[in-house]
Amino acid sequence: MYTVPKLEDFSPAALDTAAADLLAALKAEAAAVENESAVEQFRIRWTARKNGIITQIVELWLKSAPAEAKRTVGARLNELKSEIENTVKVAKAVGLIREAVPGDIPGQIAFAKNAILKVERVDISLPGIVRPLGVRHPVLRTLDELISVFVKMGYSVAEGPEVETDYYNFEALNFPPNHPARDTQDTLFVSGQEQKAQRDRLLLRTHTSPVQIRTMENLKPPVRVICPGKVHRNDAPDATHSPVFHQLEGLCVDTNITFGDLKGTLDHAMKSMFGSAVKTSFRPSFFPFTEPSVEVSISCPFCGGKGCRPCKQSGWIELLGAGMVDPNVFGFVNYDAKKLSGFAFGMGVERLAMMTYNVDDIQQFFYGDMRFLEQFA
Ligand code: PHE
Repeated sequence: MYTVPKLEDFSPAALDTAAADLLAALKAEAAAVENESAVEQFRIRWTARKNGIITQIVELWLKSAPAEAKRTVGARLNELKSEIENTVKVAKAVGLIREAVPGDIPGQIAFAKNAILKVERVDISLPGIVRPLGVRHPVLRTLDELISVFVKMGYSVAEGPEVETDYYNFEALNFPPNHPARDTQDTLFVSGQEQKAQRDRLLLRTHTSPVQIRTMENLKPPVRVICPGKVHRNDAPDATHSPVFHQLEGLCVDTNITFGDLKGTLDHAMKSMFGSAVKTSFRPSFFPFTEPSVEVSISCPFCGGKGCRPCKQSGWIELLGAGMVDPNVFGFVNYDAKKLSGFAFGMGVERLAMMTYNVDDIQQFFYGDMRFLEQFA
């Protein structure tokens, strides 16, 4: 059995001889490894930190080498060390194969040896692993921008549940049971609720307006909140509709709030989003929870109002619903409608994102197609 000799002579020729003896022993012992326990013994004998052969050659050859020979001995030791480590790896695989496939199948073993050596070699020319950095989704980016516009005006942010009761989504917003205005919001209901009183039945909220009610139930006036969030409607997906989308709701209640405040606030918000050249227009509309109610349009930011494809040649783009809070709504939350007034508004976030980023199909936001999303990186 091979033992590491002490060296007296550190000349290159003497080192050659010592290295050759060691390598011959290494090879012979590797060839004899036939099973798992031999693999382990072989590994310990050659590489164990405590008294393995690698440790011994460091002790006996490197440490005792005269100062002027240390460099060459050290370099040679590094070569031997990696040769030993490779041989141990290969012997391990070959030993396991031999144990599994008794009798020598030389072709297979040679093949395995080659494969292992190839895998073990590090190819520093290979490209590294690219970890793409995520970016904020364009819809959330638009939502963040909107939120910051209103936060600067003194609004705070409130949230509410996406699964709502009929009471918060409709009744307290002055949609009486069976009122036809309910039909305008193609509602997705949770099934199996028939035994419950109508106001307690669950549905997926069709707008963020229920958060107005929840906020007023919990806060004394004055109130200035915006309520961003996900809403659902039973709409078939197409270029402008999605069964899931986002809204930003706003509510301002105080003494002496007028329609002028509503106009000024929304005009400022739209100018912040689309540039100061943008104009706003308010036309009469209907929502059960606001009186009077309006549809708000902005002058087309693409053509400046001349008429183009996005604004359907009209020069205007309809962006939000708004109005003065209906006194009946104050009744549901015990606010004094004689002393207080307020306004509310609601807008579709995808709609705004489509305008901001010139996207012509709302579905693009939900496909998860990297080619689309990468453009926002
Ligand atoms: N909730 C209304 C909708 O989804 C929008 C709206 C909000 C209108 C607040 C007026 C006031 O259609």
